[in-house]
Amino acid sequence: MSVSTTSLSINTKIVLDNDVAIEQLGFGTYKLTDFDELDCAVNAALKTGYRAFDTAELYQNEKQLGKVISQCGVKRSDLFITSKIANEKQGYDNTLKGFEQTLKDLELDYIDLFLVHWPLKDTFFDTWEALERIYEQKLARAIGVCNFQISHLEMLETRANIKPMINQIELHPYLTQKELVNYLRDNDIAVEAWSPIARNMIKDEAIFIELGKKYGKSAAQLALRWHLQHGHIAIPKSSHPERIAANADIYDFALTDSEMQQIDGLNKNFRVGPNPDEVYQKNGF
Ligand SMILES: NC(=O)c1ccc[n+]([C@@H]2O[C@H](COP(=O)([O-])OP(=O)(O)OC[C@H]3O[C@@H](n4cnc5c(N)ncnc54)[C@H](OP(=O)(O)O)[C@@H]3O)[C@@H](O)[C@H]2O)c1
Repeated sequence: MSVSTTSLSINTKIVLDNDVAIEQLGFGTYKLTDFDELDCAVNAALKTGYRAFDTAELYQNEKQLGKVISQCGVKRSDLFITSKIANEKQGYDNTLKGFEQTLKDLELDYIDLFLVHWPLKDTFFDTWEALERIYEQKLARAIGVCNFQISHLEMLETRANIKPMINQIELHPYLTQKELVNYLRDNDIAVEAWSPIARNMIKDEAIFIELGKKYGKSAAQLALRWHLQHGHIAIPKSSHPERIAANADIYDFALTDSEMQQIDGLNKNFRVGPNPDEVYQKNGF
């Protein structure tokens, strides 16, 4: 799906299948565990205009993030907070317990989006059943999955009462996952890109150097603009205020169709993270 390139802004939202809206550009917090560093990064992000923040039990920063957002002065209803159930806490009862701890650590009484962090063979259906319960109890405004391949989504469909609203997947110019993205579109599941700039490994690509000269933008900015024009939600992480601001300074230019295709052409099925099929089989990392 392509989106209208003229109307994009930092306030652009993607409406999920249950009518809940999430900011298309959010902020990732993986590796931000030190309180002062997280405090500085999140406040720089808020100042820039980001309102959606992505954490996970695995990142071991929910307590720190909870403290930062409780003190930040932005209304709770203006924030969109995502977290995920860790692999070792999956299964029906464990997920409910893990979720309770997440809410407590984040100092929240509801979460905007709660996700299954990775598909795991042994606890596959039970974990999702727990998320359905959390959603039905209105403790999460939306629920979804991460790192689900088409086979996992098809399997989930055989038993689920509620369809995931989002699949958060590794997605960047080196891993465009065209078949999976098309499947998600066809099934009204929003596409959220993690490692959207491939941890900046793309920076020396000739196309980014060429487009960088044309638009005065870095590879990270060009890659993020490419995500937005494809209609993906993207959650870049940085600990540097100037990069946090730069990653949102992507609304004053538009890539042409041909430039979008050239960036699509960088795909080499390269992952910065684990392969979900292997994680599923091994029941973890
Ligand atoms: N669901 C999942 O399984 C999963 C897995 C991984 C990540 N995630 C989520 O996705 C978020 C983003 O992914 P990610 O953190 O792996 O990767 P990323 O956002 O693609 O890249 C982050 C890295 O790029 C650097 N960087 C950021 N902006 C830059 C810029 N403008 N110029 C140069 N370098 C820049 C950062 O360094 P500095 O911090 O030093 O600036 C950091 O090392 C995570 O934080 C997390 O919330 C989810």
